[in-house]
Amino acid sequence: MNMWNALTIRRAKGQQKLACLTAYDFTTARLIDEAGIPLILVGDSLAMTMLGHATTLPATMDDMVHHSKCVTRAVQHALVVGDMPFMSYQVSEDLAVVNAGRFVKEAGTGAVKIEGGVQRAGLVERMVDNGIAVMGHIGLTPQSVLQVGGYHVEGRTSEDAKRLLADAEALQQAGVFALVLECMPAELGAKITQSVDIPTIGIGAGPGCDGQILVVHDMLGLQTELSPKFVKRYTSLSDSMSEAFNAYKRDVEIGNFPTDEHSY
Ligand code: KIV
Repeated sequence: MNMWNALTIRRAKGQQKLACLTAYDFTTARLIDEAGIPLILVGDSLAMTMLGHATTLPATMDDMVHHSKCVTRAVQHALVVGDMPFMSYQVSEDLAVVNAGRFVKEAGTGAVKIEGGVQRAGLVERMVDNGIAVMGHIGLTPQSVLQVGGYHVEGRTSEDAKRLLADAEALQQAGVFALVLECMPAELGAKITQSVDIPTIGIGAGPGCDGQILVVHDMLGLQTELSPKFVKRYTSLSDSMSEAFNAYKRDVEIGNFPTDEHSY
């Protein structure tokens, strides 16, 4: 199996479609890595999937570093990317570089991800100059949820599409090794993909991207709420888990567990 890093991910453009996933804990990360997934994102989506918040905004650097450590302990092949949480890189470039360094030094991630386009290009350049591999993220950027009033498809007007193309170009120039494209028309996802030399990793950005990423809880059917149109559920773990919990409760209550088989 390959050993993935920012450079090999970058070189995969045009060679291999990249199937990426999020992970936040040791056990899940190990299974994902064993499946040969090349890139695992410790997303700030953990605020919602693991910590029970309504948005990604409450995730802290300490939360992100803690969960990133669990993931890097498990992973032997994939590139692990730490997602910089809200307010860890917006306040000042100095603080952003220090926080990006925490992912690398404390958690052992191979890269970090930040949201934003042209306005983050200077920061990306600074991080790259300091030896940190950076993945970009444009389109729907969940950390802007309060500003834009919800989660919407981006880039539907020609003006917005032009802005996103300019964002992609600026981030590429600044040195990102890959770019997440979230929630935009498939045609625009394909156009951005063709316009840059780095791999695009789509989530709701159509089949024309160089790779795809899904939140692991969504694809496993672990979220009970309605999931967005771009999610494909590969199983329904929440149903299996509920069945198991109910069966266990019933067994204990009626004396079916433990039996001799489970006793000393
Ligand atoms: O936090 C996250 O899980 C993400 C992915 C949706 C790309 O940013």
